[in-house]
Amino acid sequence: SKIIVISRDGEERAIEAENGLSVMEAIRNAGIDEIMALCGGSCSCATCHVFVEAGGETLPPPEADESDMLEASAYRRENSRLSCQLTVSSALEGLTVRVAPEE
Ligand code: FES
Repeated sequence: SKIIVISRDGEERAIEAENGLSVMEAIRNAGIDEIMALCGGSCSCATCHVFVEAGGETLPPPEADESDMLEASAYRRENSRLSCQLTVSSALEGLTVRVAPEE
């Protein structure tokens, strides 16, 4: 699926994301290193924080552990998600995420 990633300096990039990967993995595989993903995707670092700007209608709501991590972020917004908790699927075609500021 095609995913649009907006970097911290506002640059927009379309990446090809393999279904089944997490959005975090897809972004990192595309060579975008602003997503640190320090915990490797185990929902315990929040360095994969993104804002879902479009195309997230089919995403399931955050589980409790994701919500807890986001709760601790200074930059939490209504559309905040941890990208390691989002699974790429065809339903996410055109998903647009903005990399959240560094904590
Ligand atoms: Fe650490 Fe997502 S990679 S919480």
